[in-house]
Formats: sequence, structure tokens, C-alpha cells
Amino acid sequence: MENYTVCNCMKVSYNDIVKALHAHDKFDDVLNAFDDVQKTTKCSTGCGGCYHKVLDIISEEMMR
Ligand code: FES
Repeated sequence: MENYTVCNCMKVSYNDIVKALHAHDKFDDVLNAFDDVQKTTKCSTGCGGCYHKVLDIISEEMMR
């Protein structure tokens, strides 16, 4: 899939999120995974408008 910016505030891309997700082993819980991805990338720490986009990407990636 083509890379694109998911979080404009923190300039976090789709690839950044997927990479951060795979650096962690918490593939059991979407919200745990979200916390880890957020810590690594700082995504969704600005306006919060990308929150659902980030969650969607994480849950899609976890279902692969
Ligand atoms: S777009 Fe991600 S926090 Fe604003």
C-alpha cells in the first residue's frame, strides 16, 4: 500500500505506524497496541483528530 500521512500534527505516516506496531508483540489488544504505537511515534498526541484512523490501521494490521 502507498504510504501517506495519517497524523498531520505529528507528521506520522502509515508506514511509521505499521513499523511501530511490529516493533511490539501486543497483537492481542488493539488499545494496548495503540498505546505502544503512540509512545513510539507520538501520533494522536496533538489535536486527536487522527485517533480513529490510527485505530483502524492498527486493527486492520492486527487481523492480517
Ligand atoms: S492529526 Fe494526529 S493529533 Fe492531530
